[in-house]
Amino acid sequence: MGRKIVHFETIDSTNDYAKKVALQELEGTVIISEEQTKGKGRIGRQWYSKSKEGIWMSIILKPKIVPQKAPFITLIAGASIAKALNNLGIETTIKWPNDIIINNKKIAGILTELSAEIERINYIILGIGINVKTMEFSQEISEIATSLYKEGHKISRVDIVRNILEEFEKLYIKYINEDSKEEILNICRNYSAIIGKDVYLIKGEEKELIRCLDINQEGNLVVQTKDSIIKEIISGEVSIRGV
Ligand code: BTN
Repeated sequence: MGRKIVHFETIDSTNDYAKKVALQELEGTVIISEEQTKGKGRIGRQWYSKSKEGIWMSIILKPKIVPQKAPFITLIAGASIAKALNNLGIETTIKWPNDIIINNKKIAGILTELSAEIERINYIILGIGINVKTMEFSQEISEIATSLYKEGHKISRVDIVRNILEEFEKLYIKYINEDSKEEILNICRNYSAIIGKDVYLIKGEEKELIRCLDINQEGNLVVQTKDSIIKEIISGEVSIRGV
């Protein structure tokens, strides 16, 4: 990963750029920008990406797996970010499926975009956004977002990127070549911000109080409802605070 790095001072979105060049670039190419003018979050949200305040990068992946196995790659990314930050002395937790949390606030998010045919993947764009130096967040996210600097961790962005790419490569290769998931799942479980806790499952305007029990072999969240029904959540959003 990262044998080729394409660097920009400013761009609309590293994910959008990566999509445009994905077919002609090699697997593992990283697109990174100091600033994004149209940074994208999940569910059509905006992702604030001010100049030099964070890590805004996208990795081009071309795994030879069936598209059904692609969502697991988001978990690999979460596991490698948590592991990489832990290597640098920063404790974080993972809010399934794709948020990295410090002190109950989000410091990083993952946006995975897939281009696939019925049986094969053309490419996956793995977008990673990490708030590193931001000290002031806009009012709408100031209660829920934080940065490494704000939490007292003054670590260089280069060290973080290097560590993430190394950790990601190890786990990704094992998953693609050997279908090996246990190490990834164990990291996701050990670093989980929600397993064993009662959280809200957000469904549009509605929210349901559930207890998180585990992350299963498929990478789905296993939960227990108020009526003691056990169910699997395949994708979605959970909220620790209920907001
Ligand atoms: C989320 O938590 O909502 C996902 C945030 C993903 C942000 C990153 S920053 C680099 C890449 N380019 C984008 O436009 N978005 C992702």
